[in-house]
Amino acid sequence: MGNPNRSKAESGLMRWIDDRFPATQMWEDHLSKYYAPKNFNFWYFFGSLALLVLVNQILTGIWLTMSYNPSAEGAFASIEYIMRDVEYGWLLRYMHSTGASAFFVVIYLHMFRGLLYGSYKKPRELVWIFGMTIYLLLMAEAFMGYLLPWGQMSYWGAQVIVSLFGAIPVIGPDLQQWIRGDYLISGITLNRFFALHVIALPLVIVALVVLHIIALHEVGSNNPDGIEIKEKKDANGVPLDGIPFHPYYTVKDIAGVAVFLFVFSIVLFFFPEGGGYFLEAPNFEPANPLKTPDHIAPVWYFTAFYAMLRAVTFPLFGLDAKFWGVVVMGAAIAILFVLPWLDRSPVKSMRYKGNISRIFLVIFAISFVILSVLGALPATDLRTAVAQICTVLYFAYFILMPFYTRMEKTKPVPERVTG
Ligand code: HEM
Repeated sequence: MGNPNRSKAESGLMRWIDDRFPATQMWEDHLSKYYAPKNFNFWYFFGSLALLVLVNQILTGIWLTMSYNPSAEGAFASIEYIMRDVEYGWLLRYMHSTGASAFFVVIYLHMFRGLLYGSYKKPRELVWIFGMTIYLLLMAEAFMGYLLPWGQMSYWGAQVIVSLFGAIPVIGPDLQQWIRGDYLISGITLNRFFALHVIALPLVIVALVVLHIIALHEVGSNNPDGIEIKEKKDANGVPLDGIPFHPYYTVKDIAGVAVFLFVFSIVLFFFPEGGGYFLEAPNFEPANPLKTPDHIAPVWYFTAFYAMLRAVTFPLFGLDAKFWGVVVMGAAIAILFVLPWLDRSPVKSMRYKGNISRIFLVIFAISFVILSVLGALPATDLRTAVAQICTVLYFAYFILMPFYTRMEKTKPVPERVTG
């Protein structure tokens, strides 16, 4: 029965299953005979941690949905009910809201690893593109989730972001109305954001995570040296610098999970609102369409892009500043998708790239952090000027990359992975 060439258990229940479903084969392909480079370091913890946080968001989300009421009249009160009356409701809610911030911390570190070691470069372009699509959808997921408590910041944050679509010429105003489903953000908007947040986007995100991992396992993992371990194999076809993912990295990843859970628990139990950065203070007041909060800022993981939006203060070619702000913000994300084709360096890892690449990466990372800080603060002339400089530096990293990666001198890459 089944395909005789596949790996199968000798006998018993497992054999019965293997004759009908490639369970043993899949276990071997993705775990016990998936050879990962032996030199994974700290930066390689974040893929499995992203999986852990994804599972946390889905499970806590399912339980929150059991007590949440997706209507403009009932949403705010149902969150209070979850926090006060539902058994362990406060824990579920904070695991989910603090979990959202943890997700972005983990994802930003996971992405930065890609930049450090050139993991986006050939042959991993698709791994990167699936990853970027996940990132984009994750932003949409977080944005829609934030509307659900129907607090002041939920309402006005959504108002600001949805109104950005209105800046698009010709179709903008209609598009904006189509997204809201109403002339203003209302219970109808809340209902559709709920549907998208609890089922549509999670479904697509989970599917993309599966594709992300299949694509990665097709080509094999990169590593801190940026060397293809498949190029040096022993007589049995096993990469000389590879070790089976299971048990070696399953065990190592458990150590990462333990440290993560320790830190996550400290934040969860002692600073669940992250000092107003994970859950903002105005969100403890019910949404009021007649009262705008003094200062509207998105949650920290969006503030870098928000700062870029506000950095564009001048009209151009007859189109207003808001339109160009939206273009710059969109371009800041879009340019990450084409990164694999901007990097022309003959080597992957920062360990062997030249100093120009290193300096640009540091400038890029610092600019992103400064923009994140500025985006959370009210705008002043000085802050806007700094945001403009940082926006230029952010883009310089990408736009100049085809030039500096080609002209700089790289270091010789060793034959085999180093420690
Ligand atoms: C829910 C979100 C995500 C999950 C669950 C996830 C999961 C994983 C896992 C388990 C790995 C293998 C382990 C590792 O190398 O750390 C991996 C590798 C990778 N991921 Fe993700 N990922 C996610 C999002 C992203 C995003 C947003 C990007 C970039 C835009 C990305 C880019 C990559 C790359 C380039 C690799 C290969 C790294 C290498 O081999 O050096 N991932 N991912």
